[in-house]
Amino acid sequence: MEPTSGRGSRPRLTVLGTGYLGATHAVCMAELGFEVLGLDVDEHKIALLQSGEVPFFEPGLPELLRKNLETGRLRFTTSFEEVGAFGDVHFLCVGTPQKQGEFAADMTYVDACFRALVPQLRDGALVVGKSTVPAGTAERLAAELARTCPAADVELAWNPEFLREGFAVEDTLTPDRLVFGVSSEAAEAKLRAAFAPVLELPTPLVVTDFATAQLVKVAANAFLATKISFINAMAEVCEATGGDVTMLSKALGYDSRIGGRFLHAGLGFGGGCLPKDIRAFMARAGELGVDQALSFLREVDAINLRRRARMVDLARELVGGSFGGMRVGVLGAAFKPNSDDIRDSPALDVAAAIQRQGAAVTLYDPAAMDNARARCPELGYRESAIEAARGADIVLHLTEWSEFRQMDPTTLSDVVASRRIVDGRNALDPAQWRAAGWTYRALGRP
Ligand code: UGA
Repeated sequence: MEPTSGRGSRPRLTVLGTGYLGATHAVCMAELGFEVLGLDVDEHKIALLQSGEVPFFEPGLPELLRKNLETGRLRFTTSFEEVGAFGDVHFLCVGTPQKQGEFAADMTYVDACFRALVPQLRDGALVVGKSTVPAGTAERLAAELARTCPAADVELAWNPEFLREGFAVEDTLTPDRLVFGVSSEAAEAKLRAAFAPVLELPTPLVVTDFATAQLVKVAANAFLATKISFINAMAEVCEATGGDVTMLSKALGYDSRIGGRFLHAGLGFGGGCLPKDIRAFMARAGELGVDQALSFLREVDAINLRRRARMVDLARELVGGSFGGMRVGVLGAAFKPNSDDIRDSPALDVAAAIQRQGAAVTLYDPAAMDNARARCPELGYRESAIEAARGADIVLHLTEWSEFRQMDPTTLSDVVASRRIVDGRNALDPAQWRAAGWTYRALGRP
């Protein structure tokens, strides 16, 4: 890309949307040495970020935010005008949640953000889509950009993001791979400049067309979801045969063609990505006339949701067939450890279902309490695992925070009404709990 006066060859970057993806991307790009301006329409969020506070839980991110605010390389704004005047490369990182009552993705935020940005762009700017979108979006936005942008030599590119919550910093600074969806060599060159420090690591790079770049993202999430549901389907079969899914998974994982990662059976997948992405993928396939190609994802979704129902049934069985008048201590509300995200969280779903069936649920999570309380105010919230378990007829381990995994069963023994635990994440040591006098049950194992 053309050297920008006084700044060497480094493009100035902007990041539109400062949720989990955008805030992490903005901070990490500043950490890599770029000048970065982050934008959000939520003034409160921007004020927090500008004052050095990350509005969500992400290990390592607050320290990097403060460090890069101090260098002056990182700033935040709510002004599209400022973003347009500042940036050479603009990353679109706004959310694409599931539409209310439908499988399809809600494109309102992407479209609104894009349309606010386009009139402000400078000559030669590159707009880079990072949001997870239905195939065809990049082509549509590129055509709109060509038709409506007043500036010259402006282009669109697609650069899907694969970061995991809880490891977002690591995944952004040292990703497994980069994917550039481009329609010109000029766009590729600009993206290469914007990722130069990452490409130097080196990091594998796939340069491809728009359609493939958008598909890589949803295909990756569909594969991961399928792998989890596969092992959870095996857990169902283990339950019927007396097998142990943790041993099955271990043995399968030693086959390097299969691999042990994302083969952990339990309550299944949740969060703001996997569930809604497989549904949006199915919806898009239907529109494209290839719904049969993805009809297996319906089963992947169904297996996943069945695990939550099975968890509720197992817990009810263990307390004698009815939750009426029972105290249930729940450990975990986040959709996975090291996150405060409760979007489509299996743990919170199970807790709420059990409360609806007449139990008094008391819950503790190390990071997701505020989010859980806002979503499910009817549950009882406690300040520690011990307090959540106090007086419980049964304890449910639903999110495998290390604090829970390392818990000593004897310390809980003194506070519960009955020593019964269901390990929804297959992350506790059954022998240890049984030795301490507990009835230990888990999904997919005897
Ligand atoms: C997921 C993908 O892993 C990322 O690569 C992707 O970038 C991201 O979605 C996204 O689309 O933005 P994330 O939602 O942060 O990342 O969470 P994961 O680590 O994938 O976990 C998803 C769910 O699967 C969690 O509820 C977790 O408990 C569950 N899981 C994971 C299992 O039940 N078993 C496993 O073996 C692995």
